[in-house]
Amino acid sequence: MTTKQMDFFSSRAKMIFDILTLFPEFFSEHRRHGVVGRAAAKGLIELNTHNLRDYTLDKHRTTDDTPYGGGHGMVMKVEPVARALESLSENGPEAKVALTTPQGACLNQKLAAELSNLPRLVIVCGRYEGYDERIRAFADYEISIGDYVLSGGEAAALVITDAVARLVPGVLGEPGSAESDSFSAGLLEYPQYTRPEDFRGMRVPDVLLSGNHAEIARWRRQEGLKRTFERRPDLLKAADLTEEERAFVESLKKAGQKT
Ligand code: 6GU
Repeated sequence: MTTKQMDFFSSRAKMIFDILTLFPEFFSEHRRHGVVGRAAAKGLIELNTHNLRDYTLDKHRTTDDTPYGGGHGMVMKVEPVARALESLSENGPEAKVALTTPQGACLNQKLAAELSNLPRLVIVCGRYEGYDERIRAFADYEISIGDYVLSGGEAAALVITDAVARLVPGVLGEPGSAESDSFSAGLLEYPQYTRPEDFRGMRVPDVLLSGNHAEIARWRRQEGLKRTFERRPDLLKAADLTEEERAFVESLKKAGQKT
């Protein structure tokens, strides 16, 4: 890393994640391993969990109740969430609040990048059939991780903290590795190979062994485009492509129409 890059990283305070959950144990491994664990060990992020039950007022430590108007299932109560958020806001940098909910905006790389610029993010893990609607008044973001139903927001919070933490400057070893990832350029990543050169007759493409870096860069960009065209054509519409790349996509379309 150059001195300039070090200066840049150290000029940014660490990002703090506060997770409000009924199951803090869910995050104990997450905090110790992988990208999130390493980033926390390096002091680039902090991941704190808070048990929602600690913010209840009744002797049974109730966090849910039956819905007004009747119907099945239980609803997450507003007071414990409000009290927890108020307590968190008494210390540390100003936080944005995200609710995990299948009704939220779907998490994507752009949203992850936006969140990674925040000094502090509180993630409320939903449980039960839903939130008391008044909880929404405390939220800056409502986030879903896809069109399927989870029984709680904890798994979503793991996904969100992973996707966001790796974008905090300094977290990934080499600057640039986040940029070459799938989605960062709005495209899927090109195929990768490592040793051996020949595995049971399946050979590494010659261009990657050629040492010609311009050719390799061109091949990778084209393969990324090809892969995106085949698997996620919806991403191509929003991708930022050069004239040459647009022409390449057009040639893929034409080739597809012929067969
Ligand atoms: Cl964030 N929460 C729940 N409960 N279900 C989901 C989700 C979140 N994202 C997709 N399904």
